[in-house]
Amino acid sequence: MSSVHTVLVFALVAAASVTPVHALDSCQSTDRDCHGHDTKTSPDAIRSRWNVNASNLMQDLDQFSVSCTKLIDAFPLDEVDGNFVRTVKNCIFSKSIPTPLKGPLRLAAVSKDVLEGILNVDMAVTQSEEFLHYASGGKLLPGSVPLAHRYGGHQFGYWAGQLGDGRAHSLGRYTDRSGDGRAVIRSSVREFLCSEAMHFLHVPTSRAASLIVSDEPVMRDQFYNGNVNTERGAVVLRLAKSWFRIGSLEILSQSGEIDLLRKLLNFVIDEHFSSISSDDPDKYLVFYSTVVNETAHLIAQWMSVGFAHGVCNTDNFSLLSITIDYGPFGFMESYNPDFVPNSSDDEGRYSIGAQANVGLFNLEKLLTALSPVLTKKQQKEANVILKGYVHIYQMRFHQLFKAKLGLLRDEEGDGYLIAFLLKMMEDTQSDFTMTFRQLGEVSAQRLHNGNFTQMWALEDLSSHRLFSDWLSMYLLRLGRQQNNHDLDRQHRMNNVNPRYVLRNWMAESAIKKAEMNDFSEVELLHHILSSPFVTQETAEEAGYAARPPLWAKRLKVSCSS
Ligand SMILES: *[C@@H]1O[C@H](CO)[C@@H](O)[C@H](O)[C@H]1NC(C)=O
Ligand SMILES: *[C@@H]1O[C@H](CO)[C@@H](O)[C@H](O)[C@H]1NC(C)=O
Ligand SMILES: *[C@@H]1O[C@H](CO)[C@@H](O)[C@H](O)[C@H]1NC(C)=O
Ligand SMILES: *[C@@H]1O[C@H](CO)[C@@H](O)[C@H](O)[C@H]1NC(C)=O
Ligand SMILES: *[C@@H]1O[C@H](CO)[C@@H](O)[C@H](O)[C@H]1NC(C)=O
Repeated sequence: MSSVHTVLVFALVAAASVTPVHALDSCQSTDRDCHGHDTKTSPDAIRSRWNVNASNLMQDLDQFSVSCTKLIDAFPLDEVDGNFVRTVKNCIFSKSIPTPLKGPLRLAAVSKDVLEGILNVDMAVTQSEEFLHYASGGKLLPGSVPLAHRYGGHQFGYWAGQLGDGRAHSLGRYTDRSGDGRAVIRSSVREFLCSEAMHFLHVPTSRAASLIVSDEPVMRDQFYNGNVNTERGAVVLRLAKSWFRIGSLEILSQSGEIDLLRKLLNFVIDEHFSSISSDDPDKYLVFYSTVVNETAHLIAQWMSVGFAHGVCNTDNFSLLSITIDYGPFGFMESYNPDFVPNSSDDEGRYSIGAQANVGLFNLEKLLTALSPVLTKKQQKEANVILKGYVHIYQMRFHQLFKAKLGLLRDEEGDGYLIAFLLKMMEDTQSDFTMTFRQLGEVSAQRLHNGNFTQMWALEDLSSHRLFSDWLSMYLLRLGRQQNNHDLDRQHRMNNVNPRYVLRNWMAESAIKKAEMNDFSEVELLHHILSSPFVTQETAEEAGYAARPPLWAKRLKVSCSS
């Protein structure tokens, strides 16, 4: 293992000291010469991508250990031990031993990329019974002291006080504070697939190492309509550099535990914001400014791939600005700024188009939480920083969408060109992902001829009465990109506009099979979504880039997880 230790937090164990999460280098299998080839990633390719020497991979789980001392030493622990719901004070964590999933357990999916590339564990270990127990909370990893994190948050706009952390008990998500801390297959498959898919879309995110399902019955009222079903428990082993959230700071500020607030802030800054000096008198201000900037960037990235998180409460927003807490998320299909993935969010508070504003709201709450450790002057400056959020967001959004259209350099009319296109997409309900993808796949010549044979999304778009006006502007704009071959434009666009995203109907079909212990479609999706920019035969056969089937329109996303 490398000597550089980063705190990676498993869903179960709260903290593990292992090698840092490498940023993926740009050598994706999206290069033009890989196009159309068999995209099965060989173990060697993965190893070389992650620069992992196969003989350094752990063959035996007994060699794997984690350390929690960093977090335990840094903060006072809850004096009460035990896994039950309670209000806690003057601490950041409680010790809490997870309740094991009841067997028999099955390994439903595993991410080789995470296991080998991040955890340095040989894939062979996943064959063992022991792995199932470690990864599902039944057996504690050597060195692990399972911790439940105490945090609070603003949920749907209102302060909700202390919130439980079911994750620390169960490696999975939980439904609500009085929940059983269990996740079911449905939500676990969704989280496993989506967090890995987001990573390969280059969006900062928590990762998922494995998905284990059991026969343990879990009662769920999927649509909150009184129909309780028995579903089976499942566990996602997930990791992130840190699981601290805006709500982690809010609860300390709200309850007047200012020393502890300072302690947690110092810890987060020392661990994760290496560019901030610990004796900088403005360090909290610089920290705030970094979070504001990175949150703006993250949300712009969500928008650029049509991702709606679904529950943007302050307790679901990472201080490291990575995507966490995959619940009723959704990828927008027909372009619609009012797209709401959570079917019970009637108000549309967390619609895709509201995300940028919700980010602002959450950053305001972060500022409130920080205020006790800021001087009056720093508070003023922080307010100015907060005001800058909108500008950062718009700038990043503009950049990303320019890239989606293959535009180089800046021209005054670019914003108009983008907004015009989005408006037409809205009017014609064009598919967000495939419209951009096909604009990149089609040659300028074919665009010019208006030949959209076998381009279903462009066919939809071109039904707009102003389409030809927009097209002329676009082609003129492309024409002004001197010395830029049309193939280069296509190549650029195909590297930023995915051909495959995790559409609800795709996940639904995989979940149906997984519930019957057939994990083949989970595996297929996992594989395909690891190269979302590369056209793949199996994906095409499955219709993943085709017009969504009619039954997909009737799907509702359940909220219970
Ligand atoms: C991999 O590691 C082994 C043992 O540490 C070493 O003998 C071998 O030369 C390494 N191989 C490469 C390609 O670095
Ligand atoms: C803002 O965040 C982005 C994304 O992490 C980063 O690339 C950029 O350098 C940051 N800008 C500033 C001024 O910190
Ligand atoms: C967001 O956080 C709340 C409170 O911790 C939790 O109930 C909810 O499950 C989280 N949302 C998701 C999608 O994980
Ligand atoms: C979906 O929205 C409803 C209504 O606002 C909310 O009560 C529920 O908690 C949301 N679902 C999740 C998983 O957060
Ligand atoms: C439209 O484009 C397709 C694919 O390039 C080509 O096969 C077809 O002949 C074109 N049709 C017309 C009418 O030009």
